[in-house]
Amino acid sequence: MENKLTVKDTKVRDQIVLVRTDYNVPLKDGEVESDFRIRASLPTINYLREKGAKKIILISHLGRPEGKKVKELSLKPVAMKLAELLPGVQVDFVDDVSGPDVEDAVKNLKKGGVLLLENLRFYPGEEANSESFASEIIDTTGATVFVQDGFAVIHRAHASTSAISKNLPVYAGLLLEKEITSLEKLLSSPKKPLMLMLGGAKVDDKAPLIDAFKNKADQICIGGKIAADGAVQPASNIYIAEDFDEDGEGNKLDCGPVSTAKFVETAKASKTVIWNGLLGKAEDVAFATASTIFLKTLGENPNIESIILGGDTTAFAEELMKEDDKLKFTLLSTGGGAALEFLSGNTLPGLEAIENK
Ligand code: 3PG
Repeated sequence: MENKLTVKDTKVRDQIVLVRTDYNVPLKDGEVESDFRIRASLPTINYLREKGAKKIILISHLGRPEGKKVKELSLKPVAMKLAELLPGVQVDFVDDVSGPDVEDAVKNLKKGGVLLLENLRFYPGEEANSESFASEIIDTTGATVFVQDGFAVIHRAHASTSAISKNLPVYAGLLLEKEITSLEKLLSSPKKPLMLMLGGAKVDDKAPLIDAFKNKADQICIGGKIAADGAVQPASNIYIAEDFDEDGEGNKLDCGPVSTAKFVETAKASKTVIWNGLLGKAEDVAFATASTIFLKTLGENPNIESIILGGDTTAFAEELMKEDDKLKFTLLSTGGGAALEFLSGNTLPGLEAIENK
């Protein structure tokens, strides 16, 4: 992060500051299930308020609505959670990202108030990386400073990570700075042997990253949907789950005991374990066994540097830490795909867009 400007390098006093956060959080029955990513955004919001920012406008995506309004993917529940986490602060929500309703909502915001706009991905311009979509948001809100704090989404070339920099200078937020600094440290001197444990459901995103890690990791283990779908070819340092627990219809929903034992044995023989993606459909307790056993292996072994990446995996870790306060991890990162891409040495559009020093 040494070569990039952060929010500390610009003047925010009396400015309308637009902040890109990553509030892509798990929801259950219309409520936020894990507030890890929301809490992670608080240092930047508090910093801006302390430094006298006039108004703070937050933008984010949630899920993959593909350019259409999907009621279940509204950011409104996130605004409610944010209000709970910022007692005494005006936290408003508006169900649009530009236009008259947003103009009114910005006007109604008192000094230091926070306004969350609706899900950016309800609009095709976001994923199309449209410059005009980015300018519409800037013009409607009257923002004069842009802060990129959505670390978990900086591997995407979208309007709010990339095109936005054509209209306003982009500064890194405090979360983004912290995440990159921690990962840089890990990258510079990882304790070996290094294991990469990969699971989760985003098969198309993750399969290509495995190649990038083949030379960095001593051992790569694959569980979750990627393994169940057979999306990865075995190689000398790649182990793919070989047995699964299934539901009544034969769907492979968790890694079985043989695979889980192999994951655990590999982790115990490693000094650093990077883990992204749950090993089964862990929101269903019947299929959370492999993830639970693996997480406990990491959390109970102080000799293993454990780096837990991504919204779902960190949320799962946090749940277990509530039940067992002895579990300790080296780093919980908000970024899944973004962190993996960074660690594999790929260029991240959202990082490129930040002003150089
Ligand atoms: C994530 O959860 O990894 C980020 O929010 C990015 O989401 P995406 O994979 O849908 O772009």
